[in-house]
Amino acid sequence: VSISHGSSRVTAVLPTGQSVEVHLYGATVLSWKDSRGQEQLWLSETTKLDGSKAIRGGIPLVFPVFGPSPPDHPATAQLPQHGFARTSRWEFLGKSTSESSEVFQSSRGQSSAEVATADLSVKLDFGLSSGNLEPEVRKLWPHAFGLIYSVTLGCNSLSTSLVVTNEDDKPFDFQVLFHTYFGISDINKTEIAGLDKAEYLDKTEGYAAKTQSANVSFTRETDRVYTPVGGPREPVSIVESGKKRFDVVRDNLGDVVVWNPWQDKAAGMADFGPDDGYKKMVCVEAGSVRGWQVLEPGDAFECAQTIVPQ
Ligand code: BG6
Repeated sequence: VSISHGSSRVTAVLPTGQSVEVHLYGATVLSWKDSRGQEQLWLSETTKLDGSKAIRGGIPLVFPVFGPSPPDHPATAQLPQHGFARTSRWEFLGKSTSESSEVFQSSRGQSSAEVATADLSVKLDFGLSSGNLEPEVRKLWPHAFGLIYSVTLGCNSLSTSLVVTNEDDKPFDFQVLFHTYFGISDINKTEIAGLDKAEYLDKTEGYAAKTQSANVSFTRETDRVYTPVGGPREPVSIVESGKKRFDVVRDNLGDVVVWNPWQDKAAGMADFGPDDGYKKMVCVEAGSVRGWQVLEPGDAFECAQTIVPQ
């Protein structure tokens, strides 16, 4: 596995060609390519990458509040939209590799060389704690906490997982979400499966409560917070022209946000480019954002998503 670690980015490449690149600003995944070098995520051409604004595209990490702080939740009232994780500089803690199913594969008579390349994965770990937040940010959310964010690149998957620890002497509550921008070829031919019968809040209609029937398709601005009926592990799929393109499997994350800004909103965002880029992206965001996770002193909360191209 080849790793390069510059002053602002960490890149990992597997011997089979898959790669992932993470910016230390927000620990934002910028790029994830398959073995043929095909990009799987969408990144705006006009995004800032200089730390002046959250990165538009890839996988920004939302913590400790999703969206603008709800008016009835004073603890996060001072925070910017989507919190501070995506706009803080994280520390690269190191990498580890694993060849998880070597024994299993060998017992089926494969050669060891095949095993090593078939199942190699690399995990990159990033850390952010209250102690290394910018002082002005710390004032906005004055809790002692630790975050460990791991990005694991496999031959046919990308996982992101987060461990939140409460290092304070009183409880705090939070929301968390992986704001993944998937690269797609045509939003008009894209559907999201796995949300049938799920209740959702429609943010384009003042958070109106509705129930999904069949797959989600896109004909206008879409901004919805779903709670899938099958529970936190139930996969949600991105389907293009009737064929599954990605499965998203969640661990300990009960909600799924589906977002596409469509033409006018996309054109109104200076960091969203090109203007018709909304046709090439869809955000499917695994999170815990309806209500709050309460973490007691000394406790930890763990969550993850695994994206599997189909
Ligand atoms: C989505 C929200 O998760 O993120 C949308 O549901 C929001 O309401 C979108 O517009 C983008 O947010 P931001 O802060 O990155 O522009």
